[in-house]
Amino acid sequence: METLVYLDHAATSWPKPPEVAAAMMEALEHSGANAGRGNHSLAIGTGRVLVRARCELAELFGISNAQDIAFTHNTTMGLNMAIKGTLRAGDHVISTMTEHNSVRRPLEYLRRTMGIKIDYLQVDEEGQISLTALKQLFRPSTKMVICNHSSNLLGSILPVSEIGMIAKAHNAVYLVDAAQSAGVLDINVREMNIDLLAFPGHKGLLGPQGTGGIYISPELELEPLMHGGTGSQSESSEQPDVRPDRYEAGTQNAVGIAGLLAGVRKIKSIGIAKIHHDEWLLTQQLMEGLSGISGLRMLGPKPGAPRSGIVSFTVEGQESAAIAHRLDREYNIAVRAGMHCTPLAHKAAATLESGAVRVSVGVSSTEHDIKRMLDAMEELYGGACSSR
Ligand SMILES: Cc1ncc(COP(=O)(O)O)c(C=O)c1O
Repeated sequence: METLVYLDHAATSWPKPPEVAAAMMEALEHSGANAGRGNHSLAIGTGRVLVRARCELAELFGISNAQDIAFTHNTTMGLNMAIKGTLRAGDHVISTMTEHNSVRRPLEYLRRTMGIKIDYLQVDEEGQISLTALKQLFRPSTKMVICNHSSNLLGSILPVSEIGMIAKAHNAVYLVDAAQSAGVLDINVREMNIDLLAFPGHKGLLGPQGTGGIYISPELELEPLMHGGTGSQSESSEQPDVRPDRYEAGTQNAVGIAGLLAGVRKIKSIGIAKIHHDEWLLTQQLMEGLSGISGLRMLGPKPGAPRSGIVSFTVEGQESAAIAHRLDREYNIAVRAGMHCTPLAHKAAATLESGAVRVSVGVSSTEHDIKRMLDAMEELYGGACSSR
């Protein structure tokens, strides 16, 4: 069997750069104490790693004060912190049809339990929204606007800056889900008017699973999702009001964050613009090859248009899970298939019934990987569309 081709970077990036593994090993072996919980040198050393990681992330996202970043275990946790920490009974929220379940489920939970009102902005078949339609959805009770930067099904990129200006003009809190863009697309919270940014450490930032973070604008006060020990203001029964402690109850994933720090440094050494361009070129190579297969329908933006490193497709007469299974078992190619935790985006793309095969590239992907994928698809489905 040929070597593994990993094309599931939208789920989590893999393999992680050797620097990430080395930083985690170093943390495990030499600075494995608990930051903020002791005055001994080892604990202080761990604390320094956390500070450095916060500062590197702040620089990456145009955040003035690194203390406005709280570490989380993943994007989902940051999104829950932002949504549940902001919305109250009677509030209205505007979101989009391309949101992941980690936005939609907390929103629907608050609709059931608190009676918040939600509008999901329509997207066209390429995953784009109308800014005019967005403006029409605002009500006096609109508290929040929530959107992803890039759809995890369609690969479309939303105009986060323009949406930010509109949200600001309506005094709404603006939350961006950067699960598919952190480390891949430029993000500047100041320039984009972003109040809350939830991001994963384990995807484009090349850190390990169990890492992520949230930026909370200094002008906002979120109700904490978690309460507990922080190593600060221990005499008080209240959650501390200082940042980041207010939003970081319990022991931090210091080993993971050491890996995340190395991942962010790696990203910066390559450059976001280069990463995005290289990934875009690979998606174009992939789309051109896939377009030759009859019965295959690609979702999201058309060839040549901006997109992130995601290309999803269906093949007429074929189960998406069966396609992924054959790619895996017969060709050692890892892609994701089925439903992608975003039912409204599937609805917009008319793939609610069929699901879709999602191919996603990352920093380590190569033209050879795409060629292997295309050769496999050609062998499997290159003939008549529904005859096999
Ligand atoms: C757009 C989007 N939002 C949120 C998430 C959840 O991310 P995490 O697994 O880091 O919680 C994902 C995961 O793939 C995603 O693609």
